[in-house]
Amino acid sequence: MDFVELLLRYLHLLGFAAVVGGWFTAWLSKRYKINTAMLYGIAAQLATGIVLYGLAGEDANHAKLGVKFLLALLLAVMIAVPWWKKRKTVAPGHFWAIGGMALVTAGVAVFWS
Ligand code: HEM
Repeated sequence: MDFVELLLRYLHLLGFAAVVGGWFTAWLSKRYKINTAMLYGIAAQLATGIVLYGLAGEDANHAKLGVKFLLALLLAVMIAVPWWKKRKTVAPGHFWAIGGMALVTAGVAVFWS
């Protein structure tokens, strides 16, 4: 694996940390609010993930990456829309769905080989 691919994978992990870390911070402070870490994190996941997918070439697991892409796209909408509307908080179901889907996406990345 060349350096660019390793760098992208590293940035992909930082994006993952931002989405999940941002979500945990909101949860632990008992405020169901979208924060900047979650917004930038999901943008980083989509950007780095799509390039990583491209670099994987013929070896890519298209079913796995397709599922990840759809989950990440849904997450991006669920994070970006309340952010743009400057919502102070989101409904509890919406908030828990974001955390659950982010963790499921990471699970798909790790367990679906
Ligand atoms: C919330 C969104 C996402 C999360 C939490 C996430 C999480 C992860 C994690 C934990 C890894 C493992 C890294 C490693 O083992 O070194 C990974 C790898 C990877 N991700 Fe994502 N990811 C997300 C979105 C995406 C998207 C949208 C794509 C593109 C379709 C993508 C494509 C990849 C690729 C190509 C790899 C490396 C190869 C592999 O493990 O299959 N990811 N991701």
